[in-house]
Order: sequence, then structure tokens, then C-alpha cells
Amino acid sequence: MTDNSPAASIADRAADRVVIFDTTLRDGEQSPGASMTFEEKLEVADILDELGVDIIEAGFPVASQGDFDSVREIAERVKNATIAGLARAGAKDIDRCAEALRHARNPRIHTFISTSPVHMRYKLQMEPEKVLEMIASSVSRARNLVADVEWSAEDGTRTEHDFLCRCVETAIAAGATTINIPDTVGYSTPQEYEALFRMVRERVPNADKAIFSVHCHDDLGLAVANSLAGVRGGARQIECTINGMGERAGNAALEEVVMAMRTRPDALPFHTNIDAKMLTRASKLVSAVTSFPVQYNKAIVGRNAFAHESGIHQDGMLKNAHTYEIMTPESVGVSKTSLVMGKHSGRHAFKEKLKELGYELGENALEDAFRRFKDLADRKKLVYDEDIVALVDDEIVTANDHIKVAALTVIAGTAGPQTAALTLDIDGEKKTHQATGNGPVDAIFNAIKALAPHEAALELFQVHAVTEGTDAQAEVSVRLSEDGKSVTGRGADPDTLVASARAYVAALNRLMVKRNKTKPEAMKAG
Ligand code: KIV
Ligand code: ZN
Repeated sequence: MTDNSPAASIADRAADRVVIFDTTLRDGEQSPGASMTFEEKLEVADILDELGVDIIEAGFPVASQGDFDSVREIAERVKNATIAGLARAGAKDIDRCAEALRHARNPRIHTFISTSPVHMRYKLQMEPEKVLEMIASSVSRARNLVADVEWSAEDGTRTEHDFLCRCVETAIAAGATTINIPDTVGYSTPQEYEALFRMVRERVPNADKAIFSVHCHDDLGLAVANSLAGVRGGARQIECTINGMGERAGNAALEEVVMAMRTRPDALPFHTNIDAKMLTRASKLVSAVTSFPVQYNKAIVGRNAFAHESGIHQDGMLKNAHTYEIMTPESVGVSKTSLVMGKHSGRHAFKEKLKELGYELGENALEDAFRRFKDLADRKKLVYDEDIVALVDDEIVTANDHIKVAALTVIAGTAGPQTAALTLDIDGEKKTHQATGNGPVDAIFNAIKALAPHEAALELFQVHAVTEGTDAQAEVSVRLSEDGKSVTGRGADPDTLVASARAYVAALNRLMVKRNKTKPEAMKAG
């Protein structure tokens, strides 16, 4: 089969072009506490495609029916990007992956096996010769099903060099078109990682037949530095995620690797196909659907990334922005905070505003968001862009939830007992319960537990204000855990107690999705 994959043609065209392989929907979704519904995954895939990502790793089809369905749907609908599915080295994984990718315009099977002594001995319990056999058989099986096959050496950075070279040579001989050497445990340093790529590319006789790829984890905070070092060592594909989501400490952040190359072409003379103006929007969407807040001081997309607090800095910025700004906020899609609209703004103006903020909602979602905006404008004097973003993200995230908050009345204060009368909409049926608690939030959570019984433990309850002022919307995060799995839900509202109820219910909805992944029969709450 000839290799007509986009990755191969890109490599032919320009030696300094770096392919962006986004794994937010696979490695990113493996972040403890993160999980996305089917619809949310489609939304993320759409924005990644619009962003200009070359390859979207859409999931791990053999892992669950849910993963299979979302990979298949993404493969069918995405217009530009190559769609990759992950598969272990066994025939069942590879066949299931190919089936999920059947309708993709450009399908890629990404198959992997561990190659380090510690993984081969304890995890696989396989001799190195057997691992080599598995590489040959898995890659050739995948290559008989699709033209574009990526092979990864799991725990590649802790693999003996001679053996790693034999593995890579075997994978390329069997038909792999991309070779990924992951720093699975985030152990490498930039110098080592760069040298590793140079060494493999020099020593493996057929190395020029494949594109090399980096995949770095952030356990030592070096994922971005290591990824860029790998590119300096000859890799031309970066595997990364929006907001650096991923297993444990996460993967290299897409927005950081892209902006590093764009801002420092003198030191990193490489380019990508990413439309950087969409980075902020993509970050916000991923944060909203995974309920993973972006840390304030996060590079590129954190809310403080372009904020200047000290008098000296502000003075410098007023004289010339170059004094303290190495890239403009506009270049990554940050619009200046602006007072947007009030209670007299109409549907048309609201729709235009959403467009400006990068949202295009369907008719029903637009109607719901507009209703909530009017409600917000009635209660809050100044409505900022951030308020609208919080409101719309909340709307998007909850659109397909089984359980919704329909009404809430709380009695709080010194007299006690604090009481919550709550109505939930559970699969279209309204149910009401009144509960007391040790404070109003506890009373609300007790009412939710009574209406949707469950055993999950509350691990985190966090509140922050979306904007300044006492009438600011509250954004609440709630993390629940059950059977070693944790999920996070977020809710926004000017009333902190309503936001708390929404956040708890959002987490509960996510928990049902997660349960459904391992136990298809456990769909209902409680
Ligand atoms: O970190 C890792 O090694 C992985 C592989 C499956 C590519 O995620
Ligand atoms: Zn990984």
C-alpha cells in the first residue's frame, strides 16, 4: 500500500513543518477526574479540526462501547484532520480500531507496546524477542487495514538503546509510517530526549521512511521543553493536548508548543498549521466540558497570562507593549474585557456577541442561552464577556444531561437549621425534596442525594468569581469519587448556592457517563 497520509505528504513538502497530533480526547480524557460525554467529544473534535490540528486521536475503540461510538462518529464527521484510534498490539484491538475508523477520510491506527525492561518484565511478562514479534505482527496487521500506521514504544525513554533501535527498525519494516518514542513517565530531560532522537535516526537503517514523533508527560514539568527538544532532534510530530490535559501531571500543552515555535522562530525554526487565534476558545471549551479549571497563571491561556499588575509593568505597557509582552493577547484569541450588553439587548445582538466570542449554537441551545442571559442581565448590572462565556459553557455542558436543576429555595443564616427545597428534572420527570444540613450547601447536597441516591464521596468543593464585584457570577467546581474513579462538575450562576447545586448535579451526570463506560447497565442515577 502506498503511504498517502497527510503526515507523509506534509513531511515531503517542508522539512520545518511540524505535525500536530492532538490527544485531548484519548490521553487527555484519561486525566483522573476528567470525562466527556459523547456530544462533548464531538464538540471538542469539531474545534480541534477548526483549529488546524493535523491528527485527532479520538479514543481507544476497544476500551468501551462509548469510546468505539465516539471514535466512529468523529471519524465520520471530521472534514480535514486525520483521525487516529489507539490499539494495543493484539489483533482484537487493531481490528476494532479499524472498524471504528472505517468511515474516516484519513484513518490512522496507532498501535503500541512497552519496550523498557521494567515494563516488559513486570507489566507484559514477555521476553524482548516476543515483543519484537508482537511489533511485527501488530504493525503489519494494522497496515493491511489502513495506509497510515503509527507505532509507539511505550516507556521509550527508559528503553535500552540497542533494543529500541531494533524495535523501531522492525516497526518500519512492517509498515509503520510514524514512529513515536514517548516519555511515558515524564522522566527525560531535554538534552537526553533530543539526543535520543538523533541516536535512533542515525542508527536505524530505514529511519528515513518514517516520521518521528514526541509524546511527553509532565511529571517533572518538562513536557513542553522535552517535546521541543525532540523536534530539534529530528522529530516532526508533536503529540499534545489542549490545556496539557493527560494522565497524572498531563501531556505537553498544545497551546504552549505552538506558541513557543511561533514566538521564537530564531531558536525553534519550525511551523505548524494551527490557527493560534482559536487557542483561547479551544482552551475554554475543553476546560468547560472536562470541568478542569485552567490555572490562573497557566502560560498562553491562563486568565493572568496577559494581565499586568505592578505599577512598573503597567507604566511600561502604556509606553510600549513590547516592554512586557512577547506576544499579543489578540494573537491567541484573547479579546479585551469589555462591557457587553444589558437587559435591553435583543436576541440578534446576543447572537452576534456569541459569534464574536467564537460560539455558534443551534437554535434550541441559542434559545436556552438567551433566556439565561436575560435572567442574568435582570439580576446583574454589568454583563461582561466572561459572564457570557461562563453561561454558554454551562449551557453546552449540561445540554444533554439526564439530571438538571429545575428549582431551588434555600433558608440560610444564623437561626438554622439550614434548609433546601430542591426540584430536579430527572429524565424529564420533576421530583422535589426538602432537606436540612450543616449549612446551606450541605442541605442542597443532601436534597440531591435524596432525589438521586448514590454512594459517591465529595472530594472537592471550590468556588470562584467569574468577574469582579459582589454581583459577580460564582463558578463552582465539585469533584465526586466512586470506586476509585473521580469526576468533576462545574456550575455557574450569580447565586452561589444555585451554582453549587448545578455543579454537584453536573458531576453526578458525569459519574453516570463514567459508570456506563465500565458497566453499560448502570445508566441510571442511584
Ligand atoms: O504515554 C504513553 O506512552 C502513551 C502511549 C499509548 C503513546 O500514551
Ligand atoms: Zn501518554
